[in-house]
Amino acid sequence: MELVVTEDYAALSRAGAEWLARGIIAEPDAAVVLATGNTPMGMYRELAEMGRRDGLDVSRLRVFQLDAYVGLDPGDPRSLYGWMARAVLAPLGVAEVQVVRLAGDAPDLQEACRAYDAAVAAAGGFALSVLGLGPNGHLGFNEPPSDPTAPTRLVTLTEESIASNAGYWGGRDQVPRQALTAGMAPLLAARRTLLVVSGAHKRDILQRTLLGPPMPEVPASYLQQAANVTVLADRAAWPFPVPDELVPR
Ligand code: F6R
Repeated sequence: MELVVTEDYAALSRAGAEWLARGIIAEPDAAVVLATGNTPMGMYRELAEMGRRDGLDVSRLRVFQLDAYVGLDPGDPRSLYGWMARAVLAPLGVAEVQVVRLAGDAPDLQEACRAYDAAVAAAGGFALSVLGLGPNGHLGFNEPPSDPTAPTRLVTLTEESIASNAGYWGGRDQVPRQALTAGMAPLLAARRTLLVVSGAHKRDILQRTLLGPPMPEVPASYLQQAANVTVLADRAAWPFPVPDELVPR
């Protein structure tokens, strides 16, 4: 695991876009799982801009949805699929047929999770994974406590996640209580992972993620045991020196 600290959010977004562009150029047919949430929005905008400026072939990319609220159809603008479509797929020019959805609207949710894990396995696992850090240490919607072997599954959101999503939904009563999430197991098996973290409100949970013992109560802490993880934080999130063991080599 390595930690890269940028001066501010704009620099984090540029560095994140470069990380993803390098990965796509190296492996144009990569299976990529992409978080929504606020933090990666800047890097997705930068990536789309880089694509327009320099050209970036995304025609063979396979994009996997990271998480989905239960009961919303993908056409609903509040769905995480809708958010990903507006923020990433449309600006980058990724076609819908290139996307593997996590079907929170499926009649059989267990089957939808099994189908998703089978599609990840058929793709040879995730080549690239872009994740955000939940205020409670969640990855995707792998809420604490989450075991590192947890598969893709149906989860009940914690109060903390409901509160942090309330703004997006126009009040906490409006936030769905259940979601599907890509599991810890497929996420931790990704060949390269970028965790983007911005803002002073993430400082404590980022310290526990990077330096605390890996534990189910901080699911993101298991990234310490995964291969090729780059944590990209702005100075507000990491105002400390970079610990020796996390200096990029
Ligand atoms: C979003 C997701 C969440 C967010 C996390 C951080 O698809 O799965 O795990 O990445 O909650 O959200 P932000 O970036 O809004 O702080």
